[in-house]
Amino acid sequence: MKRVAVLTSGGDAPGMNAAIRAVIRTGTSRGWEMFGVKLGYEGLINGKFVPLGARDVGGILNRGGTMLGSARSKEFMTEDGQRKAIRALNENATDALVVIGGNGSQAGAYALSKWGFPVVGIASTIDNDLAGSEMTIGVDTALNIALESIDRLKITASSHQRAFLIEVMGRGCGYLALMSAIAGGAEACVIPEVETNPEEVADILRKAYDKGKAHCIIVVAEGAKYNAQKLDDYFQEHHERLGFDLRVTILGHVQRGGEPSAFDRILASRLGAGATEALARGETGVLVGLLKSEVKTTPLEEVVNNKKKLDLALFELQRRLD
Ligand code: F6P
Repeated sequence: MKRVAVLTSGGDAPGMNAAIRAVIRTGTSRGWEMFGVKLGYEGLINGKFVPLGARDVGGILNRGGTMLGSARSKEFMTEDGQRKAIRALNENATDALVVIGGNGSQAGAYALSKWGFPVVGIASTIDNDLAGSEMTIGVDTALNIALESIDRLKITASSHQRAFLIEVMGRGCGYLALMSAIAGGAEACVIPEVETNPEEVADILRKAYDKGKAHCIIVVAEGAKYNAQKLDDYFQEHHERLGFDLRVTILGHVQRGGEPSAFDRILASRLGAGATEALARGETGVLVGLLKSEVKTTPLEEVVNNKKKLDLALFELQRRLD
């Protein structure tokens, strides 16, 4: 390897900067010429390469977001867009590309590797729904942000004897919702993996009310069939079933904005270094992730063709602890 570029793609995740830093610094220490690509695959198509040295990535370890910017590129999903990206990589005489991102981004990385271009992916998404890594960069920080919000909402809920529906991110995956429900001591959790209808949630609320609880916290994943909005619509019509007065809080993008936790900084540093190690071994077309607490590679083909499963024993645990 002589010239290696790195990009961040899809939803930003706290710790992406730490991963960029690790890729650049471990690359330059091998004597490689390193580049960043601005704005993900969109920037790649448009040849937005910037040379990056070890000092250029100073001061970013503790910053959320991504210094390179990110995007969701529609054009890159097309064959024409991918050809343009390969052309841009060749015009910059790039030998390999490192892609930091989640499912969509790694599908893009796989597409480039199928065109014969050497790519290594780094597992990063707050959703934790990427096969090939038990934990992805950004999850821990997002989880802690959700948890802090739940703790705060519980306090005001108790003061007013209220119930709160708190919606957390995670697209089609209930990981963030379930873990924040366990860690936040929620009364219930509604996730896409387990269909829960509004009547069941109303029963949980009623039971909590009848037990004399001062609050009732329901954590809802945005991707659940009945998300916070749909549950609220139902409860507006059946208010008498709840006992509690109900409020809804949708956390949304606030979960993606924090400074990365120690766990995410360390994970990102390890995976970033793992990516350049893979390239140095001549291993490409793989995702670098954390498996059994170790930095491991998994073929991108396997990653994009497998769905990571949520451990439903944890859902049972949440129910038992309520
Ligand atoms: O994939 C990360 C994520 O934050 C999901 O949890 C969420 O569904 C989605 O991105 C939101 O995407 P956007 O930032 O494009 O609105």
